[in-house]
Amino acid sequence: MAATTTIAKKTTTPMRADTALLLVAEGGIFWNVEVTFLVFCLALFLAYLFLKGTKNLPPYPAGCWPVLGHLLALGRAPHLQLTAWRRQYGDVFTVRMGMEDVVVLNGYTAVKDALVDRSELFASRPPNYIFDVVTGFGKDMTGERWGNLFTQKKYFTTIALKTLGRDDFDDGPDAIEEKIREEAGCLCNKEDVDVTIANVICSMLCGERFEYGDRRFRELSEAVANTMDKLGCGQPISVFPFLRFIPGVNKPISGSKLHAGKIQKFLWDEISRHRQDLDHENPRDFLDVCLIEADTHDKVDNLTEENIVYIAQDLFLAGIDTITHTLRWSLLYMAMNPDIQEKVQSELDAVVGGAQPALSHRAQLPYAEATLMEVQRMRAVVPLGLPHATTQHVKVGQFDVPAGTQVVTNLHSLHMDPAYWPDPDRFDPERFPDAEGKVINNPKSYMPFSGAVVTANIDYVYHNYTELTRVLGETAFQCPGIMQVYTVGTSVQGRELWVMEISDNLGDHEPGEPEFKYVGNMHGNEVVGREILVYLIQYICQQYQAGDSRIRSLVHETRIHIMPSMNPDGFEYAEAYTPPTNPNETDWTYLAGRYSFFDNGERYDGFNGTDLNRNFPELNSVVYRYENTSGPNHHLSVPDDFWTGNTVSLRPAPETKLVMDWILRYPFVLSANLHGGEVLANYPYDLSRTYPNNPTAYTRCPDDEVFRELSKAYSLAHGTMAKCGVTQPCYTDDFACQDGITNGAAWYSTTGCMQDFNYLASNCFEITLELSCNKFPPEAELVQFWEDNREALLQYMEKVHSGIKGFVRDTNNNGIADAVISVRGINHDVTTARDGDYWRLLVPGTYRVTASWGGWTQEKTCTAANRAGVCDFVLGAPPTQPPSTSAASPAMPLMWSSVLAIAALVFSWLRP
Ligand code: HEM
Ligand SMILES: [Zn+2]
Repeated sequence: MAATTTIAKKTTTPMRADTALLLVAEGGIFWNVEVTFLVFCLALFLAYLFLKGTKNLPPYPAGCWPVLGHLLALGRAPHLQLTAWRRQYGDVFTVRMGMEDVVVLNGYTAVKDALVDRSELFASRPPNYIFDVVTGFGKDMTGERWGNLFTQKKYFTTIALKTLGRDDFDDGPDAIEEKIREEAGCLCNKEDVDVTIANVICSMLCGERFEYGDRRFRELSEAVANTMDKLGCGQPISVFPFLRFIPGVNKPISGSKLHAGKIQKFLWDEISRHRQDLDHENPRDFLDVCLIEADTHDKVDNLTEENIVYIAQDLFLAGIDTITHTLRWSLLYMAMNPDIQEKVQSELDAVVGGAQPALSHRAQLPYAEATLMEVQRMRAVVPLGLPHATTQHVKVGQFDVPAGTQVVTNLHSLHMDPAYWPDPDRFDPERFPDAEGKVINNPKSYMPFSGAVVTANIDYVYHNYTELTRVLGETAFQCPGIMQVYTVGTSVQGRELWVMEISDNLGDHEPGEPEFKYVGNMHGNEVVGREILVYLIQYICQQYQAGDSRIRSLVHETRIHIMPSMNPDGFEYAEAYTPPTNPNETDWTYLAGRYSFFDNGERYDGFNGTDLNRNFPELNSVVYRYENTSGPNHHLSVPDDFWTGNTVSLRPAPETKLVMDWILRYPFVLSANLHGGEVLANYPYDLSRTYPNNPTAYTRCPDDEVFRELSKAYSLAHGTMAKCGVTQPCYTDDFACQDGITNGAAWYSTTGCMQDFNYLASNCFEITLELSCNKFPPEAELVQFWEDNREALLQYMEKVHSGIKGFVRDTNNNGIADAVISVRGINHDVTTARDGDYWRLLVPGTYRVTASWGGWTQEKTCTAANRAGVCDFVLGAPPTQPPSTSAASPAMPLMWSSVLAIAALVFSWLRP
């Protein structure tokens, strides 16, 4: 294999052959064909005729033969043929691999749609007999089919590899880098590139490198190369698995078993060696991290040593060949382009000098980086990616792709697309730097590593305050243009109430753009919300950078504020709390850390402290009174006695005051407050109208219909919340069977809740989400909680764009702040923001809507929809002219304008 192949020879050989297409098309299929085979062919041909025409798959290119399908037409370099077909048949077509329909995606739009925008729908792997034999039929990570273990293994492997690069790991900050430098120092002979790479991978996985002459190491390298040959060289069995029963034809299977067996033997030996002095506190390498996981089952259900062998084998197989060939192509391009070589060298000389290059030099080496990127563009070493399979029925354009269909992503077609890369066959590193000479991050139509693997960079762990602070800072650093951290103030114990702001216009309200918020961990011991909000922030950052169009629109059209923890003191208390061992002592597990600390130094334990979600001004009874007296229906002012509450637990906690101020400062439109202890979405009102009588009476607010729809937007998109008959209830009430939602009071009455305060004192509609039966579940479950909530979190945020929206302006076209928007039939108004912009969440339909300010009104018919209908208003005169001194607008009788002016004044007194 590669070790003995010269660079020149490699240029004429196809690149790494990973896919089923390559598997088949490269090799000679027709040797050793026996009569049995012909009989099978006939049977299959009949089946083919039977099945043909029953599906709405993308079109088939010409040249499809019965039984063989397109195998002959694909030739020895299928990525070239597929790219040629793209010109004739468009971005999406179906190729028949023997009897199997394989959907091929070409070009940036189609491939990004599958690998980035809708990655989960295309995440699985198709069966492939030889590959499955080598990987133990899914015992590894790469071959795992879609499901729980799929995500767990991928996350775990990514985290384990990231751990190797962590500052506190083993030999310190540069452990891996140091190993690479050391190894590079040993590379003197160009024939040894693959051995060098194998040694680096070996150091990462097993913590040791070998001398190049070492017999055991040579055997390992050869076994890796031979296994890749068996996987990479066209094998009829991959297309016609029944051939494995035919003697002679099935030789590649025994061959691949033999070679993979050698790698596995090496890894089993290493595992025994590692077991001897494994220290759970101080893992030394990848195998140690895996063995600790196999002992603790923290992140992967039942990870066994056998799984570890197969996962480590994945890394040997995937890592050595790819890097080796990329380096070889780079050397070849340097040899063929001496002028470019010269420029790379002089940049290296200027930045690195005589020393060895380090990762920290990378930012200063834009030309070298661009050159490597250009090599990978021209010669993507995995030109067709790895084969994927659909996880469910998927629509691609007007076509239907059934669940389980094999999907091949033609990455080569992206890199050679003249629409993105003029004169694509020309080697030109100048394509990558932008006008300022900086290398473009994530260029379009460029995916040598395929799409973003599902949320690969998120650590699904608990974050204490220090960790939370770090991860927010790091994420903002990674996504500088769209994320920044701010604080609304400090908790009693001095911890910041951090908020991540996410917007394409940081630090400012954009006129016309709605603001959204999530608040987590208000009860310090209810922690799932806190963590999934951290993951959500990381996910948005990552997907934004990967070009996910859904996330990009969300960020471009919304200003998002995420406060992962409103009670950071309570969280630290809850995390440190250990239940008593003595059964006579009270166990506060259910409550410890729920409350915030008193600010007068009073004792704090399970019971003593402020329940922040009972601590907001109680405005329900005020509004219930106004309902009968036609009093104001929005922006109610905070009663004076709130500030001077006579018992300490009623006095507003510092955290409450800070968050109240925050709620009133920004023009929030929609929000959710994340809790635990049940699984449901709870909406206003939280206090029964007849309280304390009939405390569980369903208590409708004027926007009951809107709130039910908002709550269902979350619960129906959630993995378990509304799965009636499937989800086990936490307690006796089976909320899943009522769509996972409940009116607050109908569940139980409470006063001083944050959601009702939002609704009654500001423009913001808030619901309360309960996300887990167990308030503080084991860390290993966090991945699943994230998976269950991710889509719901996104869909709920997207709801901020429903209803109607627009501007209220004066006749000089200036926006009017604080104009009142009333909807006929709904006794709850909202007001305009600073620039005259407003958002009114409504269920789809037609409404009579009135805008009023300072004596002028305008009524219109507006259409509410899932994408907010625009409904602008123009009111009589510039806001600088007070209505009482100006003549009334001609359209309005004087009396009415003064009545409205007084009403407006009263409203402004009522403001907090
Ligand atoms: C130039 C270097 C590399 C290139 C161009 C490359 C490219 C790719 C591509 C295109 C895929 C297919 C992803 C998909 O669509 O499913 C892939 C998967 C994979 N690569 Fe690499 N790779 C490189 C280096 C490495 C290295 C050094 C390692 C490990 C040490 C590695 C480990 C893997 C693994 C484990 C998978 C399977 C991932 C999964 O199933 O989720 N690769 N690689
Ligand atoms: Zn709670």
